[in-house]
Amino acid sequence: MIIKSAEFICSNTQISKLPPPVKPEYAFIGRSNVGKSSLINMLTQKKGLAKISQTPGKTQLINHFLVNDSWYIVDLPGYGYARVSKSKKEDWNKFIRTYLDKRESLQCVMVLIDSRLEPQKIDLEFCSWLGEKGLAFVLVFTKEDKQSAVKTDQNVAKFKKALLATFDELPQYFITSSETQSGRDDVLNFIGGVNQHFEIPSFKSPTDHLSLKSGN
Ligand code: GTP
Ligand code: MG
Repeated sequence: MIIKSAEFICSNTQISKLPPPVKPEYAFIGRSNVGKSSLINMLTQKKGLAKISQTPGKTQLINHFLVNDSWYIVDLPGYGYARVSKSKKEDWNKFIRTYLDKRESLQCVMVLIDSRLEPQKIDLEFCSWLGEKGLAFVLVFTKEDKQSAVKTDQNVAKFKKALLATFDELPQYFITSSETQSGRDDVLNFIGGVNQHFEIPSFKSPTDHLSLKSGN
């Protein structure tokens, strides 16, 4: 897929204010500092599009970016950021999980995993939760430039093995680096393929928002 345009649309703390669910949408999620915002900038080739920081916890809102006027990338706050208070963490958790569970136009959750690390419990638990909810997801291993390909492959293999404890089938996965741009074509082609099958959810008018479904 060729990226012709990518623009910031909105930041939200309220699900009722999200853009109408009429375009295919991909949520980028993972532990704080895993490289979500960097990956979004790398995919779109726009350096300052999503805000990057040395400090974990930079992304605090649901951020919508419109790509090629036809699909959304969503940058989400990272989970597992230790310096956030427990109650704030729970609030975020609930908010993000509600978004993921209820957003009709969400096509796939892109779960980012740090390729330098052994499988982390928080990532495995998050994948299990997605599985329980029946949400489609893929794994995107990040920062592969930071170590040897052998080490990356070992960690990927360990993660896949750990997932097999909960899943019969493994999700598709990508190995990426925002530094070298590796994996860019694979991720974009995947998204392009899914976009082709998108149909506007027909059970609601395009102007209806998620908030109407609350109470489920
Ligand atoms: P939060 O918004 O805080 O949850 O973080 P995030 O997941 O959006 O991470 P972000 O993109 O802000 O990147 C965190 C740090 O990792 C920054 O210092 C980036 O420069 C660095 N980083 C991200 N991706 C890569 C990568 O592929 N390679 C290398 N070498 N560094 C990376
Ligand atoms: Mg971020």
